[in-house]
Amino acid sequence: MDTVLIVNFSYVIAAIFFIVGLKLLSHPATAKRGNLVSAVGMFIAVVVTLIRQDILSYEWIAAGIVLGGAIGAWLAKRVEMTEMPELVSLFNGFGGLASLLLGLSSLTISDASDLHVALLVIAYFSILIGGITFSGSIVAWGKLGGTMPSRALIFPGMRWLYALIILGALALVVVVATQPFDMKWFYIAIGLALVFGILATIPIGGADMPVVISLLNSYSGIAATAAGIAIQNNILIVAGLLVGASGIILTQIMCKAMNRSLMNILLSGFSKPIEQGAKIEGEIKALSAEDAFYVLEAAQSVVVIPGYGMAVAQAQHAVKELQSLLEANGAEVAYAIHPVAGRMPGHMNVLLAEADVPYEQLYEMDAINPRMDSFDVAIIIGANDVVNPAAKEMKGSPIYGMPIIEAHRARNVFVLKRSASAGFAGVDNPLFFKDNTRMVFGDAKDTLNTVIREFGD
Ligand code: TAP
Repeated sequence: MDTVLIVNFSYVIAAIFFIVGLKLLSHPATAKRGNLVSAVGMFIAVVVTLIRQDILSYEWIAAGIVLGGAIGAWLAKRVEMTEMPELVSLFNGFGGLASLLLGLSSLTISDASDLHVALLVIAYFSILIGGITFSGSIVAWGKLGGTMPSRALIFPGMRWLYALIILGALALVVVVATQPFDMKWFYIAIGLALVFGILATIPIGGADMPVVISLLNSYSGIAATAAGIAIQNNILIVAGLLVGASGIILTQIMCKAMNRSLMNILLSGFSKPIEQGAKIEGEIKALSAEDAFYVLEAAQSVVVIPGYGMAVAQAQHAVKELQSLLEANGAEVAYAIHPVAGRMPGHMNVLLAEADVPYEQLYEMDAINPRMDSFDVAIIIGANDVVNPAAKEMKGSPIYGMPIIEAHRARNVFVLKRSASAGFAGVDNPLFFKDNTRMVFGDAKDTLNTVIREFGD
């Protein structure tokens, strides 16, 4: 049979594996299988691509596989769950860089002056979007990991520079499409893209970073699609489209969870600085873990609200143990999951699934909020921004309007964290000052273990 036919048929099979894998990834119970199915699809795509006749150097490819595989295996072993978003950001960045290089190589391996103008323009876009994704993702990686300040950074004239680069990039497409072929236009495009990626990401800060990462993920897919068209590789086009589409859907979901439009997030650094809102009145009341136990022992219904601190403390197994004790004691236990709790989409779901918390006991924000008044106790485990009532009560607050889990409406609220300091968004939390709130200070896992011990005594 014709090799091209075999290759394209295998690509269709690989694409089906990708789509089924994505579908399985949408539920925690099947996510692991989804990952495996997608990986098999990718394996088929890679192997089939290697049997094509127009491979230039198997040696270089083997070197890339060995080096990339070794770095990937080392990273997968080393990276903590809490560092996942940074890693995803790096993956996006290198995806963008790969598309940039593919776009460039599509121009250099053949005589580019013979290339159709449409292919030149597509290669230009794969270089441009790939470059933006690369430098933007590196900035996002720095902001998330603390190598760079996470707040929005702006400088005078930035808006003009921004506009100038957009105009320059648009003018360059016209040049590429109408002027005789010259590599220098593409090198200028790389420069513009790298600067634009940095400029587009540094003015975004604090709680908006997850949306940016998801958007950059989508860009990496679009860049891969453009590169796929430039080198005329069908599976790269399909895979790029899947990444691009799923990234933009996730971006939309996260914008909705934060009650913001994408434009509002992308341009937030340029808006006038917002005041922190009114000063919080009241007094913080602390409670020991031992005293928290007495209230929990008498509770009939408990809602657990996990956040980033649960991941830091690795408290998920202790949470599950407490859940079993509360249930054995006759209480109903539910978990309230905010869409941006933690540092990556589904972060809390993954940790709770690891501790065998039944998925049916996890409730999304909109499902649990109407029932919040009925809970005897809300236990907040290392969550802060996602339960911050400033989002509802304090008009000038930077997080005003963001939907939250309304823990403050429960009869008693226990906040398990190490101090009264602010969360990721850097905004003070009036919840800590409410009459029905008690702060149980300390590492969340230690606190939970103390309560668990009290149940045993
Ligand atoms: P945060 O607002 O970041 O608060 C986490 C809290 O955990 C901190 O205030 C910290 O307080 C506490 N903590 C840390 N280590 C702890 C430990 N060992 N034991 C107990 N507590 C500990 O978390 P959140 O409420 O989950 O909100 C998530 C935030 O991250 C949002 O602003 C969201 O936009 C942003 N974000 C989300 C994502 C995604 S996609 N989920 C990605 C990036 C950023 P102490 O230091 O006082 O202990």
